[in-house]
Amino acid sequence: MDLQVGPGVFLPRPETELVAGRAIEALADAVRVRGAGTVTGVDLCTGSGAIAAALAAEVPGAQLHAVEADPEAARWAAANLGPRGVDLHLGDAATALSALDGRVDVVVSNPPYVPDGRIPEQAEARRDPELALYGGGADGMRMPAVIAATAARLLRPGGVLVMEHDDTQEAAMARLLARDGLFTAVLTHDDLNDRPRFTEAVRTARPVQGRATGDDDGTMAP
Ligand SMILES: C[S@@+](CC[C@H](N)C(=O)[O-])C[C@H]1O[C@@H](n2cnc3c(N)ncnc32)[C@H](O)[C@@H]1O
Repeated sequence: MDLQVGPGVFLPRPETELVAGRAIEALADAVRVRGAGTVTGVDLCTGSGAIAAALAAEVPGAQLHAVEADPEAARWAAANLGPRGVDLHLGDAATALSALDGRVDVVVSNPPYVPDGRIPEQAEARRDPELALYGGGADGMRMPAVIAATAARLLRPGGVLVMEHDDTQEAAMARLLARDGLFTAVLTHDDLNDRPRFTEAVRTARPVQGRATGDDDGTMAP
């Protein structure tokens, strides 16, 4: 599909097509089981809206939300997602969409995950906003951990999380998702270069302890 991108937003990468593809499958499965109009998908850290736009194009009948913290990036997302009927929320993925807690079928995310101090090899990264790249901490796992916590809050039991990560983070991701019994069926997939680059997991029925009470801070009109 055609997407509008430019200064101030992360340039979508080919690897993320596989992440989007797995999320599309999971969302389409949910529509088959539960019926169109009753299924909800969320793209956290949407950037240009690339993943959410793919979900909208491939899974008609799902209600879709996208969350982005950077107002400049969100302007590109609004251009790409408004015409596709995706609700865009400007805010922090940590606290977003509390009205949907426990009601979401699929959460997908390509969050910032580059470890601190690592200079990304890809030429595109020289033009990407810093907020889009670095996950936080020497292992880059701080933001992926936030995404896992938000997914645990949003997903219904049986709902699916699909998250992109660095090829050094497979074990840390599996530990993170297996922790506290909130997810099961943790499975890492390779990218187009056969490197472990995204992980999926299924939400169990176990309640989140010490649930965050933050709210979503602003819906952007399409
Ligand atoms: C790696 S880019 C991915 C963009 C898009 N999902 C894609 O795959 O092309 C990560 C995005 O997360 C956004 N972001 C960073 N921290 C965030 C936060 N706390 N809440 C929401 N979005 C955040 C960045 O601004 C950036 O647009």
